[in-house]
Amino acid sequence: MPVKPRLLITRKLTDAVLARAARDYDVMINAEDRVFGSAELIAKCQEFDAVLPCHSEHFSADVISALPKRLKIIANHSVGVDHVDLAAAKDAGVVVTNTPDVLSDATAEIAMLCMLGAARRGAEGDAMIRAGKWDFWSPAFMVGRQVTGKRFGVLGMGRVGQVAAERARGFGMTVHYHNRKPVPEHLAKGAVFHDTVEGLFGNSDVLSLHCPATKDTTGIINKDTLTMLPDRAILVNTARGNLVNEDDLVAALESGKLFAAGLDVFRDEPGGNPRISALKNVFLLPHIGSATEETRDAMGYRALDNLDAYFKGRDPGDRVA
Ligand code: DGY
Repeated sequence: MPVKPRLLITRKLTDAVLARAARDYDVMINAEDRVFGSAELIAKCQEFDAVLPCHSEHFSADVISALPKRLKIIANHSVGVDHVDLAAAKDAGVVVTNTPDVLSDATAEIAMLCMLGAARRGAEGDAMIRAGKWDFWSPAFMVGRQVTGKRFGVLGMGRVGQVAAERARGFGMTVHYHNRKPVPEHLAKGAVFHDTVEGLFGNSDVLSLHCPATKDTTGIINKDTLTMLPDRAILVNTARGNLVNEDDLVAALESGKLFAAGLDVFRDEPGGNPRISALKNVFLLPHIGSATEETRDAMGYRALDNLDAYFKGRDPGDRVA
């Protein structure tokens, strides 16, 4: 029997995924399911041919330069790869893959939850009842903003952005988007392309972020760009926390420039931002965009498919470096 490649799995994946991994690889699992810091990550990786991490493990240039020569592939269990220094991986000859497509539906669902939770004051209402403070009703009580018929702005019309746009159309919203270039019409489905951020933001009653976190998009939501939005717009972020300057976001939520925000991601995770959590006009989730049973299985299988391809001498389909 051929020797199985040694695979380090850094977090607890679903039983089905772990069973398949154990069948095909000589696997070590992080049974405690806690995040490895840089030094521990380097130490743990020493005896392995491959690592299957999540976005919670950071493969900086320093970590990558300290990986053993035998470790040839970082097969991420995530679509986002901002936790990996791709240039350093490329220089070191380490292959990097991600898991696109399989989480688009789940993440678009969470974008809709964030949009509706923010627009209809979902967190405020829930908290009121749980605290035993629901002692009043009137037509003027807990009035939110309706999204039906409004403009849904998509920043980053990739796979998740396209599905989110489709779901928003279900609410009778018209879709506007900004992307590096227009997407083909069979994917845009009538969505209006704006070739500038300003053009998109000016046409977004709800602005939903779906672009990757890169050096160009870090802080793309800031005091200047927030002023481009219509007054009382709603911001939805299910992509990455570092797209947003959170101090500027707090100011826009406090001033009423933004009606509300629905956020699944934060600059500091886990934990979030206490200044944001202190506000009433936010609907907050703990980075669970892709957290469904179906999607967690699919992400794990996709990461294993990429490993299988690599170790069978084929190019992994989802190679990003
Ligand atoms: C992703 O896939 O990038 C999600 O944020 C979960 O890690």
